[in-house]
Amino acid sequence: MRLVIALAAALLATPAPAQEGLRGHGGPVRALAASRDGGVAISGSFDQSAIVWSLKTDTARAVLRTHEGSVNAVAILPDGRFVTAGEDGVIALWRAGDAEPERRFKAHEAPIASLVVSPDGASLASAGWDETARVYAVADGRLLRTLEGHRGQVNAVAFLPDGALATAGYDATLRLWPTDGATARVIEAATPLNALAVLPDGRIAAGGADGNVLLVSESGEMLAHVEAAETPIIALAASPDGASLAAASPRGSVAIIDAASAKVRFTLNGPGLPVWSLAYAPDGRTLLTGGGDRLVRRWDARTGEHIGAVLQTAAPDDLAGLGDTRGAQVFRACAVCHSLRPDGENRAGPTLHGVFGRRAGSVPGYAYSQAFRALDLVWTPQTVARLFELGPQAYTPGTKMPEQTLSSPQDRDALIEFLRAATGEKTGSRP
Ligand code: HEC
Repeated sequence: MRLVIALAAALLATPAPAQEGLRGHGGPVRALAASRDGGVAISGSFDQSAIVWSLKTDTARAVLRTHEGSVNAVAILPDGRFVTAGEDGVIALWRAGDAEPERRFKAHEAPIASLVVSPDGASLASAGWDETARVYAVADGRLLRTLEGHRGQVNAVAFLPDGALATAGYDATLRLWPTDGATARVIEAATPLNALAVLPDGRIAAGGADGNVLLVSESGEMLAHVEAAETPIIALAASPDGASLAAASPRGSVAIIDAASAKVRFTLNGPGLPVWSLAYAPDGRTLLTGGGDRLVRRWDARTGEHIGAVLQTAAPDDLAGLGDTRGAQVFRACAVCHSLRPDGENRAGPTLHGVFGRRAGSVPGYAYSQAFRALDLVWTPQTVARLFELGPQAYTPGTKMPEQTLSSPQDRDALIEFLRAATGEKTGSRP
């Protein structure tokens, strides 16, 4: 995963092409999960936020911030709650519709690379760079089990259908941990392992730094080696119907592997590469990918066809000029939807140029929600700060700006200070 970090730095520097997809993140999309009913997806990003997407309307429903560092893993529980985990070693448990997590706790003393939910929804397993994987109870966040043995970062963890666990790590081993707590079975691989996925029949796929995907039986027999890419595999997903596996590599593309024959059927070609994260929708047909271009894209996993959906047209091309103050960092998550240009360029949201002293809902040519058009409000540093203290849904009910709050007063102050300078605030008396 050290390699992954180095690549992340390189990819963060490349400008985002303006292409179709679910746009909302200010950095590469590092983690993805789809709900069991296929209506919702959760993404996590290097921009330190997680986004809840409606896949029915192709819109961001909420932008969630609680992690200090990239959001490396996301997973959805059977009851619709979801979990996020990050570079900060924290796991946060969220209830849909809430702006703050129901619970957050330090789960590892090092970054968490992977987080999964048990088949019964009662426990969570996380893989950390502190050389352990850990199992926590969803009900009270209690540590149930610490899996020790890897010599190096644990990069991936997965539950088998019977509740046993598989872990994979930098030490080039795949370890299978029986439910009864007996010692793990260790399967040696040729290179460090970065990713895991489990098929419904219990077969385990492990993605290696050499671009190969290993297929191993539930009891640990090596079944197949699939040459999926020429560069390291960094994400793997298994389709819920057991038909295919998807394997992504940072420099290459996404290989779709036929699960029965263990052969690469085809690779996804087109926009959005490189890919950092993968998730199948429950139909097994729709594959979501998240990548360096900050978008969540949709593909037909049976044909390889790209089924993009547009949320907005303009790419955040002006991120580079924002500077590196705290306020500029906070604004990065706004920049995907708001430009600061005077020429009225509107993204998913209206331009914020000249926002202070401007009536809410008054940028010409921007299609505001009914709620916004009816607002009788002038934006000032105080009202904008309040908007993000309470969250747009509470402050302006019915708005189409996705829910997001800035709970830290320091962050709100920094954002306002940044906006005052960057939006061309008029000083002195106004006409
Ligand atoms: C995923 C897209 C998205 C993100 C991210 C986003 N906004 Fe918005 N914003 C919108 C939309 C859409 C509207 C218009 C709301 C409506 O019409 O209901 C809006 C409206 C606004 C307005 C009112 C503008 C006006 O003309 O009345 C302000 C101020 C604002 N956003 C600031 C921010 C700030 C600051 C951030 C970052 C902390 C942010 N937004 C993040 C989509 C977004």
